[in-house]
Amino acid sequence: MGVRNKITVVGAGNVGATAAHWLAAKELGDVVLVDIVEGVPQGKSLDLAQAAPIEGFDVRLKGLNSYDGTENSDVVIITAGLPRKPGMSRDDLLKTNAEIVSKVVDEVVKRSPEAILIIVSNPLDAMCQVAFRRSGFPKHRVIGMAGVLDSARMRCFLAEALDVSVENVTAFVLGGHGDTMVPLPRFSTCAGIPIPELLSQEQIDAIVKRTAGGGAEIVSLLKTGSAYYAPSAAAVEMTESILKDKKKILPCAAYLEGEYGINGLYVGVPCKLGARGLEQIIEINLLAEERIALQKSAAAVQELIDVLGI
Ligand code: LAC
Repeated sequence: MGVRNKITVVGAGNVGATAAHWLAAKELGDVVLVDIVEGVPQGKSLDLAQAAPIEGFDVRLKGLNSYDGTENSDVVIITAGLPRKPGMSRDDLLKTNAEIVSKVVDEVVKRSPEAILIIVSNPLDAMCQVAFRRSGFPKHRVIGMAGVLDSARMRCFLAEALDVSVENVTAFVLGGHGDTMVPLPRFSTCAGIPIPELLSQEQIDAIVKRTAGGGAEIVSLLKTGSAYYAPSAAAVEMTESILKDKKKILPCAAYLEGEYGINGLYVGVPCKLGARGLEQIIEINLLAEERIALQKSAAAVQELIDVLGI
């Protein structure tokens, strides 16, 4: 390993390229952008490198059509796969993206056997399970990005409703990255004050609903693809916590082995991210209705896993 960290981003589409942008701007390490489309990763990384003198970041950026050159990456962010089109659910992408993610993982693990994998491809929780099984990596080195995005959406909506800084607002979202996700208002706060003290039940219900449909709202607006600024920022926050060993507690998709009563499945839960990757899963006591909602969300993920037979 060089002096700087090395981060590979697989997929130079909107999510991957924007992740490279945030990673470089924060000087988190040298960035290798990989994509099968000839010229695109090269062009985007060259363009980004030419922004460096203006923005003042000193990292090396490289675009590749092969995985040679990704060796010994510290973190690999996997965004490869087809995005949703209007009317499609994340689950419609299941089989195609499972094949794409499997191939990517094979190439990545050969060259970076010690890397920490951050999965962004959809359907998220199922793609984590694919990457986990295929890589043979321990569960602490295969982590999914979704909860940071879902909770950021909720924080954005809460801050808007409260007319306060987004920095004052925390939000807590459990479960799979899909319509069954479980936003938990009683663990969401503004300056430490639980949200139910500050907003009416109707306001909270509306925000919870908008959060769960947050990805689809953007797909229906963009029409040609899905969200990418917030998804990439979320993957980069996870990367930063790992590379700087910050030990932030972030909601992530993690392989559960009995936590929250769920076994052998990737589902979103609060995780501590540090130098070892996923260092701890934080378990909290849920109310009966919250537990039922989480079980329902886990069952939706399990259905996809059963279709894939993994
Ligand atoms: C979203 C997609 C990327 O939530 O899953 O925007």
